[in-house]
Amino acid sequence: MRIGIPKEIRPGETRVAATPETIKKLIATQVHTVIVQAGAGMAANISDQQFETAGAGISDTAADVYARADLLLKVRGPDPCETAMLPPGMIVVGLLAPHDRPGIEALAARGVTGFALERLPRITRAQTMDVLSSQANIAGYKAVIIAANEYGRFMPMLMTAAGTVKAARVLVLGAGVAGLQAIATAKRLGAVIEAFDVRPATKEQVESLGAKFIEVPVSEDDRRQAETAGGYAREMSEDYQRRQAALVDERSRIITTALIPGKPAPVLLREETIRSMKPGSVVVDLAVEQGGNCPLTERDRIVVKHGVILVGYSNLPAMLAADASALYARNVLAFVTLLADSKSGAANVNREDEIIAGALVCADGRVVTPQT
Ligand code: NAI
Repeated sequence: MRIGIPKEIRPGETRVAATPETIKKLIATQVHTVIVQAGAGMAANISDQQFETAGAGISDTAADVYARADLLLKVRGPDPCETAMLPPGMIVVGLLAPHDRPGIEALAARGVTGFALERLPRITRAQTMDVLSSQANIAGYKAVIIAANEYGRFMPMLMTAAGTVKAARVLVLGAGVAGLQAIATAKRLGAVIEAFDVRPATKEQVESLGAKFIEVPVSEDDRRQAETAGGYAREMSEDYQRRQAALVDERSRIITTALIPGKPAPVLLREETIRSMKPGSVVVDLAVEQGGNCPLTERDRIVVKHGVILVGYSNLPAMLAADASALYARNVLAFVTLLADSKSGAANVNREDEIIAGALVCADGRVVTPQT
């Protein structure tokens, strides 16, 4: 296939969907060629020359990349002006935001075949392609670094001639990929960490990282409700949410939150909780894009309310553009390797394959709805 890498144009997006490392691997198959838009890697510290040395051609404009490619590798889904340039028959792979129905309908109307990597099933075979995990890992790390930066105190306990400084207390809500990395990072900085999650299975993982697992008193019904067969969290009962809120209210220092992807975020930090927190406490709300775990956080801003610093950055991976791109590009390479026929290099949209079928959001002029 002729693979195109345009420069990302969404505001604040610094990542790029391919790196010299992944381009070399694509070209080594001898069935693919790669064309990169000039400047596509600049914000991730990759020069055009590095792409060229890896074997890619360089094009001056996005339009030229679109005209010369069969497959586009993107980080974010095309915005309306990009979609308008896509020729019929183009295949697009990226974070296409499948919940953005008008965006996907517009792609379908252009005759594009779209694969949304958010929709990859979380199965063992798809692990190497799991962009949500690779990027959430970065977000969990960066959330703690930002929290430490905003917090006007030390993270570790310090014993000095001028007296002892207590360690910061960190509470992590949601111990998924981002939450576990947040715990590990806060631990390295010397904080005292507590965490909780609705899935009891996370207790062992939390404890293995040196944090204390806080248990919300649960009934058998809660336990059954907590986890889907696919290993994801479900929404909990109102009664459970009330007990959980009471637990959060009892604690408060620096809090990083992480929650259920693809669903509106449940409110875990109510205004009363924020009001009762010590002034100078920091909340990093990772779920801000899904409405936030705290109704007071504001998207892409740091605000101070009731003396508490609330961080609502929606694209933390973009703040670590080089590593985020390196991991994202490897995930995408794994997906392309599955999609392309190894002999001819042509795309094989095999709907019998649960990974291909899972990620497919539009084809043949129509929006493809998920099976589950
Ligand atoms: P994940 O699915 O691995 O983890 C979410 C965890 O939250 C699960 O362990 C789940 O059991 C838990 N959870 C669900 N309801 C809960 C409740 N009521 N109380 C406590 N725990 C609960 O998801 P991942 O990949 O760690 O992402 C977490 C969040 O971070 C998502 O909302 C995602 O969209 C967001 N995110 C934000 C980024 C940013 O830059 N702001 C970047 C990457 C992810």
